[in-house]
Amino acid sequence: MTPLNILVMHGPNLNLLGTREPEHYGRENLAAINDALISLGDTLGCSVTTFQSNHEGELVERVHQSVGVVNGIVINPAAYTHTSVALRDALLGCRIPFIEVHLSNVHGREEFRQRSLLADIATGIIAGFGASSYTLALRGLCEYLRSQRAV
Ligand code: DQA
Repeated sequence: MTPLNILVMHGPNLNLLGTREPEHYGRENLAAINDALISLGDTLGCSVTTFQSNHEGELVERVHQSVGVVNGIVINPAAYTHTSVALRDALLGCRIPFIEVHLSNVHGREEFRQRSLLADIATGIIAGFGASSYTLALRGLCEYLRSQRAV
């Protein structure tokens, strides 16, 4: 199996996971989520790199730097899901397949969370499974990328 390079991106305030609103986001911290993704990547034949930022521009830069390096992106854009035209344009412009992930079911929450500026350009969306949203997304993305290569 050809190895895949996957970037997992976490947006603002996700560095607070573990203590931040556990009723919505669970009790697992970001380091534990990242470790689980890296070991799942080993099982799936993917090299997983992780990146978290509270700054929109840094997330945009990281997408730019991924061109030609990364096969696909798993991204929890957090609050930028609902606001960031810049992140949308970066993902569109760089044409890297990505899965949008949310720990909580954003569609069952406040109205402003039900709008995503990224959803229509994502390969897929997973929400509501807590930390498992990320592992489901990684599995789905790997399967999708391998199916594209087989064509
Ligand atoms: C979130 C949902 C967003 O609305 C929120 O701003 C977050 C986390 C989630 O994972 O459920 O920070 O993306």
